[in-house]
Amino acid sequence: MKLWGGRFAEGPAEAMAALSASTHFDWRLAPYDIAGSRAHARVLHRAGLLTDTELDDMLAALDRLAEDVESGEFTPTVADEDVHTALERGLLERAGEELGGKLRAGRSRNDQVATLFRMWLRDAARRVTSGTLDVVDALVAQAISHPDAVLPGRTHLQHAQPVLLAHHLLAHAQALVRDLGRLRDWDARAAESPYGSGALAGSSLGLDPEAVAHELGFPTSVDNSIDGTASRDFAAEFCFAVAMLGVNLSRIAEEVIIWNTAEFGYVTLDDAWATGSSIMPQKKNPDVAELTRGKAGRLIGNLTGLLATLKAQPLAYNRDLQEDKEPVFDSVDQLELLLPAIAGMIGTLTFHTDRLAELAPAGFTLATDIAEWLVRQGVPFRRAHEAAGECVRVAEGRGVGLDALTDDEFAEIHPALTPEVRAVITVQGSVASRDSRGGTAPDRVTEQRERLEARLAELRAW
Ligand code: ARG
Repeated sequence: MKLWGGRFAEGPAEAMAALSASTHFDWRLAPYDIAGSRAHARVLHRAGLLTDTELDDMLAALDRLAEDVESGEFTPTVADEDVHTALERGLLERAGEELGGKLRAGRSRNDQVATLFRMWLRDAARRVTSGTLDVVDALVAQAISHPDAVLPGRTHLQHAQPVLLAHHLLAHAQALVRDLGRLRDWDARAAESPYGSGALAGSSLGLDPEAVAHELGFPTSVDNSIDGTASRDFAAEFCFAVAMLGVNLSRIAEEVIIWNTAEFGYVTLDDAWATGSSIMPQKKNPDVAELTRGKAGRLIGNLTGLLATLKAQPLAYNRDLQEDKEPVFDSVDQLELLLPAIAGMIGTLTFHTDRLAELAPAGFTLATDIAEWLVRQGVPFRRAHEAAGECVRVAEGRGVGLDALTDDEFAEIHPALTPEVRAVITVQGSVASRDSRGGTAPDRVTEQRERLEARLAELRAW
């Protein structure tokens, strides 16, 4: 059964049909297609194009079709071009050709697919949000269980200044929460239904696109039927939002991989979230983190591939647009595999806080504290920076830490460097002193976490 046989003397060549077919990936839109059909039947009825009985029979047939799709009783055949074709066949089989044939009035696969794809994505955005919230929760839980742990904060991967472990973990959480904010912002733009746009020009049948939109969970329908059927920036924007999420997850993953090395020794992975080697019995590998890093590349590829598909397509619908779905579905599928595993891995990490504490002052991470202490004594920062640098040079020359410099050595470097400076040459003192808004001082980190948790509660209620 074809949706368009009339003007053709022959059916399509086998290779044509094989190229055209999309049910192997668009079948997942079936429940949305049926929801669209129900809404469409109602607007046809309201426009006087279906009688009361016809509407009842149509809806009953659609219900049976939905059940059969759900149970796997009804599936597409190789002859079905796409999900819409297959479901029309299913409807005709259940409602009869006479009644079933009426549903197609005033709609096209072009407005259908544009609508169903948005519906699927809007649900997917909520699933991705929920999975990401579990990752954020794992980060927050680790932050809460390590309120005082410190580690060497890094820039250029070099020791920079000591920070609270909780502050570092929440930095990752902040990025993920922004990703979720992006998905919500995206949703507000994607929430317009193209149903009723027809092939591109709208309908002459007195249908009500707004009513269909509301029934399908959209606050409104599109303002322009050409745009409604031709645009896929909603898909590209979604792809960007989840690619960015993938990239942010890959930054966490990369750190876990480094932290898990013998050289760093910051963390131990839980057995349930690590893998072994087929040859080296001692190995315990961070595969979750590596797959996260790897899949981030795949998500970026899906975005760039989709953008390349969209580039330079003339208005309105072109069959190229059928290529829009697989990359987006793939990005979501990968995240649905990934997110629970990342949440599990992070939630079960053991942090070696003694090692972290030991490393926190190493590499002269307290040099900035000396410089800022001098500034508080009235020394210009330029001079203070130089003096603190000299402290590092002397300590390095002696092979000791900054706190091991003698009073005389300090005084010789700068007269303002009195023994009181020792108060800031401790990791705890350094961390506590960074108490500006957003800083790493424990109270500030707690405040930060509370604001973040309020934001999480909002996102959870979405
Ligand atoms: N399967 C197509 C897609 O996913 C929709 C069908 C539109 N086909 C057409 N010949 N207008 O984009």
